[in-house]
Amino acid sequence: MRLIVLEEVESTQDIARGYALEGAPEGTAVLALRQVKGRGRSGNTWVSPAGVNLALSWILRPDTPPQKAPLLGLLVSIAVAGVAEEFLRRPALLKWPNDVLLDDKKVAGILCEASLENGAISSIIVGVGLNVNSDESDFPPELHGRVTSLFMASGRQFDLEDIARRLLDQFFLLYDRAKSEGTDFIPLCWENRWAHRGAVLVREDVRGTAQGIGPDGSLILKTGDGTVIHITSGIVVPEAPRPEMKDETIKNTE
Ligand code: BTN
Repeated sequence: MRLIVLEEVESTQDIARGYALEGAPEGTAVLALRQVKGRGRSGNTWVSPAGVNLALSWILRPDTPPQKAPLLGLLVSIAVAGVAEEFLRRPALLKWPNDVLLDDKKVAGILCEASLENGAISSIIVGVGLNVNSDESDFPPELHGRVTSLFMASGRQFDLEDIARRLLDQFFLLYDRAKSEGTDFIPLCWENRWAHRGAVLVREDVRGTAQGIGPDGSLILKTGDGTVIHITSGIVVPEAPRPEMKDETIKNTE
């Protein structure tokens, strides 16, 4: 593993992709102390206040069919949750496919970008954005109450490079395990940290009870009519609780 630490970049994904194109080996990682144009999933931007959070990308060259690539994202989220737990000494949970939650708020997001050659994966750039030393005021108001950081959850500050090295170690332990024994353990390990097992989850077009994670990393839902479906993409969120009926105030007029 080689960790390249850079002062400021637009996106660590692009830097790591550049190294991959030059032939850099699996495990080459790029940590930016400031990332000013981070990318998130589904074409979103990744808001990361400068200088306080982890922006880390690394190169994988897995011998995996593209249909199994989502399992790698799950594997990364297990490693990120493990590291958050190790530093905070309290549980971190997961939201499908690979958000990491503390106190039901997002503390980390993961983006995996694959390059294919003749239908096979030539490389995957794994990107992890982990909120480390940021305070709520470092985020735009629309994210307040929905995001957190290791600092907000513990009152303690952490060294970004320490976290990056620990995360890469934890991830590659799991990755080597998947290489030697296969990927069956990944959905099971992921489900052990799942924040929403049994919850009603909704995507724009579907609503169902969360049953489990398939062997390909898909989300298994049971819809109202009992049909079991496998979701492989999109933003899926827990159904908002219905507003409670308020008791009418009974006024004593006497
Ligand atoms: C998400 O939308 O939840 C995924 C966010 C991924 C952000 C990370 S930060 C490091 C790497 N560089 C980027 O531009 N994006 C990823």
